Amino acid sequence: MAPGGVEPWRERSVARGIDSVETREGGGFLVHRPFPTPTLDHFDPFLLLDEMGPSELGPGEAKGAPDHPHRGFETVTYLLAGRMEHRDSAGHAGALGPGDVQWMTAGAGVVHAEMPEAGFHREGGRMHGFQLWVNLPRRDKMTPPRYQEIPSGRIPVVTSPDGLVWVKVLAGEALGARAVIETRTPILYLHFTLRPGGRAVQPVPRDYHVFAYVFGGRGRFGTDGREAREHQMVLFADDGEAVALAAPRDSTAPLDLLLIGGVPLREPVARYGPFVMNTQGEIRQAIEDYQAGRLGRIV
Ligand code: CO
Repeated sequence: MAPGGVEPWRERSVARGIDSVETREGGGFLVHRPFPTPTLDHFDPFLLLDEMGPSELGPGEAKGAPDHPHRGFETVTYLLAGRMEHRDSAGHAGALGPGDVQWMTAGAGVVHAEMPEAGFHREGGRMHGFQLWVNLPRRDKMTPPRYQEIPSGRIPVVTSPDGLVWVKVLAGEALGARAVIETRTPILYLHFTLRPGGRAVQPVPRDYHVFAYVFGGRGRFGTDGREAREHQMVLFADDGEAVALAAPRDSTAPLDLLLIGGVPLREPVARYGPFVMNTQGEIRQAIEDYQAGRLGRIV
């Protein structure tokens, strides 16, 4: 027992390191993808993580993902640089700029287009961001679609007392700040920037699966100080209630990472492209519904 009779947090070890795969998505834009890949299919409740870019695009070069459907899960888009536009079959339209988040609960289904904003497409510039797919539990797969579009200015940001750790709270809680986004199942989604010599110990509920994805600099993770650098992911073991993140003192660049966690659903995953259900029968139904136009179309 620690002084005061409080059990100290046990810090988690690292179970695995994963290298992302470089691939093309949608209309042909560059992504770094830690999963799904041949090494890691999914990390319950997370189905996919894409780092879009970073790419320096010339005029007319920005590409997007034209009309396509989704059913059975959520897509979370977090942009760091560039501008995107979104339109869907429910008549919803929105725009995302640097630092903004769109949390889309596809639920029963939408057809949407995720494209570069016209001015950004014309002029070009830097494109960098993330898309995370969060699975929905069986009871929520056919829920009506919902959007949460949160401009950067509404997303809580906290800096540690020593000034070495900065964290943006997309979902969950960190350093006393609580996210404004509501999630269907408990989710933690944090963007950390650690200056060289910075260290953070982030509490994570014991029943969460947790990973870190590095997209700038290099860091050391977990009780074993496992090293990871940009485009690498570390999966934490389920052996504690906190995770340790550190930027080595001799680093020349800040460490930038996403720390993401959630309660595993432990349900069967039937997956076919943009549809993620529990059974093959439900996948066939989704394809039929899409082909019959029941997921709607963009007008
Ligand atoms: Co999509």
